[in-house]
Amino acid sequence: MSQKGGTGKTTTVRTLTDVIRRLEVGVLAVDLDPQGNLSDYFDVPADADPTVADVLAGQVKALDAIHNDVLPANLGLAESELILAGKMGREMTLRRALREPSKRYELILIDCPPSLGLLTVNALVAADYAVISSEAEYFSLQGVEQALEVVELAKDSLNPDLEWLGVVLNIADLRTVHAREAIVSLKKSFGDRVFEAPIRRSVAYAESAERGVSILDHRPDLGADYLALADEVLDRLGWKDERRRLGELRAELTPA
Ligand SMILES: Nc1ncnc2c1ncn2[C@@H]1O[C@H](COP(=O)(O)OP(=O)(O)OP(=O)(O)O)[C@@H](O)[C@H]1O
Ligand SMILES: [Mg+2]
Repeated sequence: MSQKGGTGKTTTVRTLTDVIRRLEVGVLAVDLDPQGNLSDYFDVPADADPTVADVLAGQVKALDAIHNDVLPANLGLAESELILAGKMGREMTLRRALREPSKRYELILIDCPPSLGLLTVNALVAADYAVISSEAEYFSLQGVEQALEVVELAKDSLNPDLEWLGVVLNIADLRTVHAREAIVSLKKSFGDRVFEAPIRRSVAYAESAERGVSILDHRPDLGADYLALADEVLDRLGWKDERRRLGELRAELTPA
């Protein structure tokens, strides 16, 4: 999640899904953004039907809207957000809808839209953990604080078990003093909740999206950032066996 657009949320969901699937973990990727970028990344056809919008509208079951382990979205989701807003239990809708899929998949990753509105709140109420994506720049501190307030609200009111897993330093240009200073200030405020592994900025991400090739295969040297992030995520989740398998994958993809 992040309030700001373009902080790398979708790329992170897409790449973590890819990494964790390579560990033979069943991962469902949920696109909760009317832009439908995650669905594009996974090559779900633009006219795929039904989508998460139909699920939130109560017209189909989530399991019947999954295409190749992706629950896709398109612009129709913007309308269903408006309809949802007028309904009872509007914050709980996704949580209820994901009950069945959560028995079938070991992990569900949800890509939020760039806002802290009803869709993101639905994700937070459905989730066990929240991950905040932040660019390493001057205003990022405020952005993370605002996101955390919404996490706390969801936790206090509707999802007491929700935990904040951490902040990903995304699209970081580590060569600039500005980015390095922003990282220092984020770490000062949020301590070890900031993931150690920043995701470095590179044009290779745009190329990899354009070609539909995962960054792990397109540029394994850069993909290493996501392997390191996945390692921290699995560690925080306490998934020991999967971490061991990830160690093997890292040795394979990025030989020393
Ligand atoms: N590490 C990176 N370095 C450079 N560019 C990146 C990186 N990660 C993602 N990008 C690019 O930045 C743009 C925004 O990334 P992405 O779509 O993942 O962000 P987002 O937070 O999901 O955006 P939105 O808020 O619009 O949903 C995309 O063009 C993507 O290819
Ligand atoms: Mg996105």
